[in-house]
Amino acid sequence: MRVSCIGIVLNALLCAAVPHGYNPPPPNCGDHGPAYLDNQVSPARLYQNLVDIRSRTNGRPHVSPDRAFGSPSANQVSEWVYSRLDSPNYTRYTQQYSDTALRYKLATPFKVGTTTYEAFKMSAQFDATVTIIKGPRGHGFCPNLQVQFDDNPPNNRVLLVEHNRCNTNVPLGFASLILIYNDNWTDWTPETAPDPVPGSYIPVAYINRGVGIDLIRRINRGESTETKFITPTVQFPASGINVFAKSKGGDERRTIVLGAVLTTAPYTPGINEDGSGISLLLELFDIFKNYFPHNKILFAFWADNVNFHDASGAKYWGNHLTATQKNNIFMYLHFQGVSNGTYGVLDGDGSSGLPPGPPGSGPIETLFRDQYTHKGINNVVDVGYLTYNDFGEFVSFGKPVGGLYDLFGDILHPAFPCRTFRCDDLRNVDTHMLKINTQVAAQVLCNVANRNSI
Ligand SMILES: *[C@@H]1O[C@H](CO)[C@@H](O)[C@H](O)[C@H]1NC(C)=O
Ligand SMILES: *[C@@H]1O[C@H](CO)[C@@H](O)[C@H](O)[C@H]1NC(C)=O
Ligand SMILES: *[C@@H]1O[C@H](CO)[C@@H](O)[C@H](O)[C@H]1NC(C)=O
Repeated sequence: MRVSCIGIVLNALLCAAVPHGYNPPPPNCGDHGPAYLDNQVSPARLYQNLVDIRSRTNGRPHVSPDRAFGSPSANQVSEWVYSRLDSPNYTRYTQQYSDTALRYKLATPFKVGTTTYEAFKMSAQFDATVTIIKGPRGHGFCPNLQVQFDDNPPNNRVLLVEHNRCNTNVPLGFASLILIYNDNWTDWTPETAPDPVPGSYIPVAYINRGVGIDLIRRINRGESTETKFITPTVQFPASGINVFAKSKGGDERRTIVLGAVLTTAPYTPGINEDGSGISLLLELFDIFKNYFPHNKILFAFWADNVNFHDASGAKYWGNHLTATQKNNIFMYLHFQGVSNGTYGVLDGDGSSGLPPGPPGSGPIETLFRDQYTHKGINNVVDVGYLTYNDFGEFVSFGKPVGGLYDLFGDILHPAFPCRTFRCDDLRNVDTHMLKINTQVAAQVLCNVANRNSI
């Protein structure tokens, strides 16, 4: 209500406190309390973001779609994210850079004696000299094969198991690779070989039945099945596009950087990793574009952190900052794989035994953890992931880092078996988890965006 000050005695006191021309303080995310902020998070919008990302994630026919660095999809998603960051209260911009793109080929040749075979869909880079043996009996892995492990199994061996008939949940330490041979005589091709079975904890690749039977015969005859795997790669020049939106309001000297990753590993649609982080940031943008907290907010969508695992998006950005811009960073908050798995908070204080983040990272971890506790969620794991990925850049500046990463789990138990595989798709999105994580992120952002220090 406007108050007129002309000749109204009763208003004198009010007029002294609220002089003519007074503008109300700009809206702040903290104005109406946490429940109000929570309620602004829209699960429908979060899911729609993923659908929009998916529709721009294309692949060659029969090959799993991806947004790998250097693919047309990667740049399409950059452009779409840019289009979503439209607000008079924010300045958006992009940063394009060149780098070498790396791809694993879908088929890995390996030679036993003088015969060359092919393995398909190696689930991780695997370069080693190994001996191929039959899968064991008695451990529930593959009852139709008659081989026992010795007590102290060596690590440099490859287990042959039959598709659909053997359990491929082989614990780490029992073997270094599982080769799954088809249970019928239809030949697999790089395009048709299935994704590794969820729950596989070590690298997995596929071979055709003929190859599997041939290898078993050779083992039965006592021939050496020693072989060397080198995952073949191709490299080519490509470019990536970092996308940013910076609030016009807020103190530049305490700029909060929020990050997610635009690209995926090859041959995975990457809806959870890291479509979910992109979606979470876009939702925060849609909410915070209406607010003017005390500190500046910079949304950063990195063009890459998977290709060569060198976080080239954040590095390129970091290399082009002035000393003042670096100084002005208040903290970095990262969101990766936030729609399936186990609630996981970046281990800022190093309590998991991994290196802690720079000073301030511990308190950030506490802010996140407090939000889960407040929601009655107590099974939140520490994720020690501070020195590589995009955090690395901020750690190198000595800036506090934090964030959420749910797909990782711990080393022995991946929380999301579809991570980096074709099944990381819309059907494996836990929309409840994505909503909770976005609410947690909104609360923490509102808290730190109104602070002078951490
Ligand atoms: C044989 O294997 C192929 C490839 O895994 C599969 O698509 C097909 O359904 C299988 N056929 C039968 C009869 O099991
Ligand atoms: C910009 O902020 C003002 C003030 O909160 C708000 O009214 C307006 O809707 C915002 N603009 C957009 C496009 O979000
Ligand atoms: C999470 O992903 C796993 C596969 O890794 C899937 O089995 C599960 O159904 C997913 N959760 C939800 C709620 O979609």
